[in-house]
Amino acid sequence: MQLLDDHVVLITGGGSGLGLGVARQCLAEGAQVAIMEIAPDKVEHLVAEFGDRVLIRQGDVRSVTDLEALRAAIVERYGRLDALIGCQGIFDGNLPLRETPVDRIDSLFDELFHVNVKGYILSARVFVDLLEENDGAIVLTSSTAAYAADGGGLFYSASKGAVRSVVNQLAFEFAPRIRVNGVAPSGIANSQLQGPAALGLEKVKQSDIPKEDFLEQFRMLAPLQHLPTPEEYGWLYAFLASRRNTLMTGQTIVADQGLFNRAVISFGSKAGGIPVGVVTG
Ligand SMILES: NC(=O)c1ccc[n+]([C@@H]2O[C@H](COP(=O)([O-])OP(=O)(O)OC[C@H]3O[C@@H](n4cnc5c(N)ncnc54)[C@H](O)[C@@H]3O)[C@@H](O)[C@H]2O)c1
Repeated sequence: MQLLDDHVVLITGGGSGLGLGVARQCLAEGAQVAIMEIAPDKVEHLVAEFGDRVLIRQGDVRSVTDLEALRAAIVERYGRLDALIGCQGIFDGNLPLRETPVDRIDSLFDELFHVNVKGYILSARVFVDLLEENDGAIVLTSSTAAYAADGGGLFYSASKGAVRSVVNQLAFEFAPRIRVNGVAPSGIANSQLQGPAALGLEKVKQSDIPKEDFLEQFRMLAPLQHLPTPEEYGWLYAFLASRRNTLMTGQTIVADQGLFNRAVISFGSKAGGIPVGVVTG
């Protein structure tokens, strides 16, 4: 018996990075999977990888029309839905507020919040009755940026904080039939996370940051010294999406490699007393 036998799982934003890894793990755990993805080139790759095994739809989570068409396709093919996993997102290029042109704030805010927050709310609304029929689950993606500064810029961090609140409120409203939880990753290997068009950064990816520099910094700061792959996060999502999770609702799991488990950044990533050269007197 696998974790997701008898589960139909929908992953929004499943074309690359986290969502793709989650989709692979859900399949490995026996789920029947549907994926919604906005980028046509990623949809092509999905079709090449999964063929008919997965229901793949090009669409935008900001569009009720696209979500309702997806819902109709899921009902037609599977007749049910057991879990909705939200993985889509865009980031803000870490731009400090002071450097953000005032005349771009409206469009930047709308773009970030529409994809990162409204997309999750619309999906929850469109699929709630299907999920309720099967004692289903919702799993949404926040970030450590929701908990501490410098995980993104202001707009990204605020949008991820909003996702935590969406998890809290929906867990309350949808209980007892639907469990609603979140995951807050710190960093994800192979991410293609894109910047906002409002700043002309839609072609810029988080992965454009020189990989070795980023990895070196992450290993210095995170006690587990390992940047997890999307598939590694996939296990956690698969559990939260499954009916095996009879334990939690309204929780956002901080999956941070131990990053927040330190009050002060000492030299190096391991505890080792006071570094030579710092002791005086
Ligand atoms: N990369 C990181 O280090 C990191 C850390 C913490 C949290 N996250 C979060 O993890 C999630 C996945 O990010 P990722 O790093 O795998 O990036 P990614 O860009 O590889 O994956 C996101 C996917 O969502 C799709 N998407 C974007 N807008 C969409 C829309 N309107 N409708 C449908 N699909 C849409 C993208 O095309 C992409 O395929 C995001 O919510 C991100 O904020 C990422």
